Amino acid sequence: MITKKAIEKFGAIRTPFYYYDVELLKKTLDVYTSYTKKFKYNAHYAIKANAEPRILQIIQKAGLGADCVSGNEVKLAIKNGFAPSKIVYAGVGKSDAEIKTALKAGIYSFNCESVPEIQIINDLAAGMGTTARISLRVNPDIDAHTHKYISTGRKEDKFGISPWEFESVTNLIKNLKNVKLIGLHFHVGSQITDMSVFPLLCRMVEQLQKWFIDRGIKIENLNLGGGLGIDYANPNENPIANFKDYFTLINRNLIVRPGQKVHFEPGRAIVGQCGHLISRVLYVKIGQKMKFVILDAGMNDLIRPALYQAHHAIENLVSTGKITKYDVVGPVCESSDKFGHNILLPETHRGDFVALHSAGAYGQVMAMKYNQKDLAKAYYSDELLK
Ligand code: LLP
Repeated sequence: MITKKAIEKFGAIRTPFYYYDVELLKKTLDVYTSYTKKFKYNAHYAIKANAEPRILQIIQKAGLGADCVSGNEVKLAIKNGFAPSKIVYAGVGKSDAEIKTALKAGIYSFNCESVPEIQIINDLAAGMGTTARISLRVNPDIDAHTHKYISTGRKEDKFGISPWEFESVTNLIKNLKNVKLIGLHFHVGSQITDMSVFPLLCRMVEQLQKWFIDRGIKIENLNLGGGLGIDYANPNENPIANFKDYFTLINRNLIVRPGQKVHFEPGRAIVGQCGHLISRVLYVKIGQKMKFVILDAGMNDLIRPALYQAHHAIENLVSTGKITKYDVVGPVCESSDKFGHNILLPETHRGDFVALHSAGAYGQVMAMKYNQKDLAKAYYSDELLK
């Protein structure tokens, strides 16, 4: 929620900027960890969703580990207090330098996405006189019913190791001295709102882990990844993701064997709703067919609408005028720099504050300097309002 008091404070800040509601982040973490504690699940926050140091520190203090996809994310996680024993590292293209960084740090698990990667991790670990704990990221061929760019578990996707490779992978690992197989990892997509995907995933996990167990291979860890969606259409009504149904479905459908640990990698569901991109209206332009609200925030600050046709709720934080239909656009020289078409807003004027909601995940981290724009800074509710 953006309070009146916060809006008063916005006047002194250069727009556009990211505004984080720390109270909501903490509340979200409280709800999330109430379930992970109840079911004795391990959580690793997906740093890729938002890597601002303050956000990382709050999440680390709530007891989560970190899920990383680059050597720099591993370094950042450690710098912000995450214990290496709670860090997992996925990604189809880990470079030698990145693997060495993670080996040196002594992370919990490399989530391996191909046969050649496992060989390289083994060779680099041997060179450093160490052993790497690895998990196999499995591609279960599940359609997560989400945008095709953020679907990761279908057989045509580049992610994970396919079941037909299990035989050769296990034969390879048997002969490698510097890797130890500790588990299986799955992540089938992001912004998943069709809850039936999760029971299906649990059934696939069971079917696939049985292949290993039947051959006497112990699977100590099952990592089900992230992916739970948030309500972009009604962020104020549903500020906290549906963790209740998510964990109830998983708990009911996942077969966990004695001694096995279960892990998750939430990103968006933790940080999505606590972040807002705050901008000022530069101009209201009457076009040939449309009225345009031109913001000082653009696709360089928040690329999700341009990249995935994603919709972020748009709110004029100050006007109470007559409801009017607008196209809301940014200043960047691309027609895809558009946040919304036919958006109903109270009559809008130059200088009004406009918020793009649900921008906490994959917002600030994906910002860029296209058109040589400055990067938007982060402000936090607890600091701003004290
Ligand atoms: N684990 C792995 C291995 C992942 O690849 C991801 C996200 C996550 C966990 C966290 O997923 P989440 O809980 O956030 O859904 N930029 C896109 C999203 C890309 C997601 C990439 N992987 C967007 O703005 O929608």
